[in-house]
Amino acid sequence: MRKIMMLGIATFLGAADLSTAIESPDAKAILLKDALPAAKVHTMPAGCLTDNAASIARGNYIFHNLNGKDAKENPPEGLTRLLPNGKEKQMGNCVACHNIEGAKGYGNIGPDLTNYKALYMDSGARTGQFLYQQIADPRKDNPNTHMTVNLANGLFSESEVCDLMSYIVSKK
Ligand code: HEC
Repeated sequence: MRKIMMLGIATFLGAADLSTAIESPDAKAILLKDALPAAKVHTMPAGCLTDNAASIARGNYIFHNLNGKDAKENPPEGLTRLLPNGKEKQMGNCVACHNIEGAKGYGNIGPDLTNYKALYMDSGARTGQFLYQQIADPRKDNPNTHMTVNLANGLFSESEVCDLMSYIVSKK
């Protein structure tokens, strides 16, 4: 009995013309539209790395928050919770992967950025340009990086990448 019913359904489906009912979007075109452009060199703008307190405060906020909506504190001067198009501003959530001074609940997928100035910059191991490129698009240094891309996809502006750098290098 069951077999006969199944057969009946199969025959019915086979007979119906579903070609107009089924959408068949071009999956490849959708994937390509969302794909990031190839990694390229991003040159650090003049005056990027600064000891300006407002820039460091913005970098601090972007580093430790996931988005503007869920953040406990209001964003510092020059940052907003909402974008002009009404969408919520995404922050960096860098703390998900990196420890740094004062980090709460940090992840360890990326290197510890504590004491960055002394260990990485003053030692000569890193330059401002390296730091800028790493935050803008880490794929340039490591094509298989697990770090998020931040400039090539428009998540942050150039000056926000500079804010992040200035915070990482700042005295804390
Ligand atoms: C999903 C994990 C992840 C997130 C999120 C992440 N990073 Fe990274 N980061 C890494 C990894 C892994 C490395 C090691 C190098 C590589 O693989 O590219 C790295 C390397 C770095 C370095 C280079 C350290 C050095 O060697 O001098 C800096 C600086 C850095 N990240 C800053 C940031 C900032 C700022 C953010 C937030 C905008 C961020 N990262 C978000 C995973 C992450």
